[in-house]
Amino acid sequence: MLPDAPRINPSILAADFVNMQAELARIAAADFVHVDVMDNHFVPNLTFGPQMVERIQATSPVPLDVHLMISDPDLWAPGYAELGAASVTFHLEAAHDPIALARRLRSIGARAGIAIKPGTAGERLYDILDEFDQVLVMTVEPGFGGQGFMPETMPKLRALVDEARRRGSNVWFQVDGGISAATIDQAAAAGADTFVAGSAVYGAENVEAAITGLRDLARAASLDS
Ligand code: DX5
Ligand code: ZN
Repeated sequence: MLPDAPRINPSILAADFVNMQAELARIAAADFVHVDVMDNHFVPNLTFGPQMVERIQATSPVPLDVHLMISDPDLWAPGYAELGAASVTFHLEAAHDPIALARRLRSIGARAGIAIKPGTAGERLYDILDEFDQVLVMTVEPGFGGQGFMPETMPKLRALVDEARRRGSNVWFQVDGGISAATIDQAAAAGADTFVAGSAVYGAENVEAAITGLRDLARAASLDS
């Protein structure tokens, strides 16, 4: 059973990497755990690869939402689906054949996600929406946690959501970067249903309250819009 919207996916980029088992246990109230894979090539930062993600998969109380910020996802993304990630998202800017890759991810049993950076036009996804289960509209430049939310990405999100609904698609819309109690309402009002939050969750004194608080704010804002 997949969790209903609004979904809150804490990013372990903001967690303590040497206490990962305990850090994962803290987010049992979340919908997914957001796992940022960076290769120091597609983005100027480095995190971890399949070996670490396999251990996270074995340890996490919630399913994995893997966000690949890597070059050549065509080669590497299927491995993350094979190790059991519920969702694998790769970047449009990095993929050689996004449709073939999405089909491969789905055939392995993962949800297929496509991400776009703030400067990438949403129209590039219109004709391939059906191939995906999730669209990730980045609300910061990918690479680092703790950056400021970019409200200028909201019209692109709104247009993508409208286009998907026109086409009868029920693809999920995820936002990632700078999502907090101060910004989540803007993204929810623009049609996002799945929210990544790193610093706003792991930086909170009460992690569980932060997760439920963000979910309540997103629900209220999407009902209002
Ligand atoms: C940034 C990553 C994000 C990051 C978000 O490139 O993709 O998932 O962890 O962190 P916050 O929520 O702190 O902006
Ligand atoms: Zn991410």
